[in-house]
Formats: sequence, C-alpha cells, structure tokens
Amino acid sequence: MAKSDIKEKRVYGRRQNRPLKGERLDAYQTLLPRLALSKEQLKEDASLDPRTLFSSPFKELWFEIGFGSGEHLAELMRRQPDNAFLGAEPFINGMAAFLRDIAEMPHDNIRVHMDDAMMLANSLADESVDGLYILNADPWHKKRHHKRRIIRRETLDCFHRILKPGGHLIASTDVPYLAEWIITEVTLHGGFEWTANKADDWRVRPDDWITTAYEVKGAKGATQMSYLLFQKA
Ligand SMILES: C[S@@+](CC[C@H](N)C(=O)[O-])C[C@H]1O[C@@H](n2cnc3c(N)ncnc32)[C@H](O)[C@@H]1O
Repeated sequence: MAKSDIKEKRVYGRRQNRPLKGERLDAYQTLLPRLALSKEQLKEDASLDPRTLFSSPFKELWFEIGFGSGEHLAELMRRQPDNAFLGAEPFINGMAAFLRDIAEMPHDNIRVHMDDAMMLANSLADESVDGLYILNADPWHKKRHHKRRIIRRETLDCFHRILKPGGHLIASTDVPYLAEWIITEVTLHGGFEWTANKADDWRVRPDDWITTAYEVKGAKGATQMSYLLFQKA
C-alpha cells in the first residue's frame, strides 16, 4: 500500500509510517473491504441503524474510537462474543495490525472505519450505542489545537445523542491535564454522570480493564493513568 493511496484527510497527524508487509498486508487487503463501512453508510445524518450492519442479532453495541493497533478492541471481541463492535482508526498500520489480530477469530460482529471517528459517530442513529471507549486520545497540547481533541463540547453532543440512556462513555489518559480537560468538558456538558464514588476512584485501574500497548509504553514517562467512567444521565 503506497502513501499516495491515502484519501483526503479528515484527521490531523500521520496516517502511515511504514509500508505494510506479510500477514498484515494480507489481512488489510482481504478483511478491510469486507469489514469497512461504505461511503453510503457514512452520510453523517444520524440515519445509520447499526442493526443493519450485522447478519446476526447482538446483545450490546460498543464503539472504540482511535483504537491504535486494536489490541483492546480485539480482546473485547474475544471476551464478549454476543456483542457487536465498531472501531475507528485512521492510522493504516494500526488498522492492519488489528485486522491481522482478528483474522483467525470470528469477526462477523465488527465493522471498522479507517478515518475520523466522527464521520461514523455522526452517521449513527440516536440511542443506538451501549458504550464508547476513547483510550489515550491524542492530547493536542497547544491551545490552538484544543479544537482537535476528540472529547470536546460538539463531540460530546454527538456521543450523548448516539448513546442509549445509561450508556457508557469510558476514557483513559496518562496526561494529567487532559484528564482534567475531559472531566471539565463532560461535567459542563451536563448530560453525563461521572461514576467515580470517591476522589481516588479514577486513579485505580478497574478490575476488568484491558491494558493497551500504549498504556504500558506511555506509563513509563507518565505520572498517572486516569480511568474516567461516565454514564449518560
Ligand atoms: C495515543 S493513540 C492511542 C491508541 C489506543 N487507543 C491505545 O490506547 O493504545 C491515539 C489514537 O487515536 C487515533 N485518532 C486520532 N484522531 C482520531 C480521530 N479523529 N478519529 C479516530 N481516531 C483518531 C490516532 O490515530 C491514534 O491511533
């Protein structure tokens, strides 16, 4: 896959760092055309009923935004075979790593989008999603770049719209001021409840947490992971 094949950008930052080879290239070429959502499905008009995407009924629908190499999403699929999943990741090498990972397991319950997650989020019907994961989102440090952050007022409006009542918004970060940003934005939004019971809850890794490679790598230089669990009020 050559860099020139990359479509017009909807996201900031790099989308590929090295050419795909071997099993990752094979998985990318064979699985992406089967599992990727089509342009017609991504109209960004809240019309996409996720039940139309899967051949079998499912219990819950979970959507992971910015899944990186997808190890968290693949593990969710292993643990929760009765659920269906959506994943968005614009980074080509990450998408290929994920597809390679799921190639030999049942994967009829996943659909992916290799671009800006908001294209998919904006397309989904109201109250159609049980939970959203946004793990270690890019912090976009500079103030003028804050509008690129994936959790902000406008995106929260959309997340609130697509989540079912009581639906989950689960975020994590090892950047302390991004944790503060997320808590502030979500609190100001007013449509979510923070499920932390006491001050320290958000510093403690939940029991069933699936640790991503980024979390292990990032944790070295990072001072503290924050686990931010919210529910649609
Ligand atoms: C720091 S990495 C974390 C990856 C993974 N969630 C983890 O914890 O290992 C942030 C990821 O978000 C993706 N990303 C950034 N902007 C995005 C967007 N608008 N839509 C979907 N993914 C996005 C990046 O490509 C990158 O893979």
